[in-house]
Amino acid sequence: MSGRSFELLPLSGALGAEIRGLDLAQALDDETFAELHACWLEHMVLFFRDQRLTPEQHLTFGKRFGEIDPSAYIPSVPGHEEIRLQDMNDYSQIGNDINWHCDNSFREHPQKCSALYAIEVPRKGGDTAWANMCLAYELLSAPMRAFLDRLTAIHDLVETMGPGVLKQYGPERWQAFRDRTPPVEHPVVRTHPETGRKSLFVNPLMTSRIKELTEAESRELLDYLYRHATQEELLCRFRWEAGSLAFWDNRCTIHRGIADFYTERRIMHRVAITDPDRPH
Ligand code: SIN
Repeated sequence: MSGRSFELLPLSGALGAEIRGLDLAQALDDETFAELHACWLEHMVLFFRDQRLTPEQHLTFGKRFGEIDPSAYIPSVPGHEEIRLQDMNDYSQIGNDINWHCDNSFREHPQKCSALYAIEVPRKGGDTAWANMCLAYELLSAPMRAFLDRLTAIHDLVETMGPGVLKQYGPERWQAFRDRTPPVEHPVVRTHPETGRKSLFVNPLMTSRIKELTEAESRELLDYLYRHATQEELLCRFRWEAGSLAFWDNRCTIHRGIADFYTERRIMHRVAITDPDRPH
């Protein structure tokens, strides 16, 4: 017996666990919250099924983990500025290649964690996959880890997504995108502030290059790290149903929504929490 007030079923060998027996529409008492928090730090992404959450209850759950980050890069749920509306059909208008990433690494304070709640899901497809970036770091050789430990990554969404904006919307929109999204620097390897574990902190959607290397070296190294981090052994994959909620730690995982369901719809509400600390 675990002694916990809910059941936990690990999803893959690398990360992820389904939680059964918790109704997130109810306020979590302190003891249950502490148990859940410990499970989340260990498994990195938790899944809940058959939830019935109002936007307020979704926000209440998120606020147990910190302050809401209303980051307005994607539309919000009408009447709820703090909740992002993720309609993958809308995504396809701004670029349908939402590649592996952690949320908002292109900001000085990336998002600490995100709670994605499924409103409408396609009959097939539209899963999300996560990768364990601590394991990705730990499986590298000691000399490679020591090399990466000293490097800095530049995260610049305009470098990675700007060409699409320029092509589709023209130079004025590109310039506005540039003005509100300056490049930022983060260490290539960060230390989790709560578990102390180190992880790779680069991703193909938002990292443009490694500062200390030549462009060619940086490209080769990043491509190698992405292949390494997204090998099947480091992943879990979740099949959504309406009422499912996934809650993940952006400080030690990357994720990718798998766009294999067009022309069906997939509508999600996302609540994200600010990281008060810069990655270090
Ligand atoms: C995201 O890319 O932030 C959400 C993932 C998804 O929609 O599956």
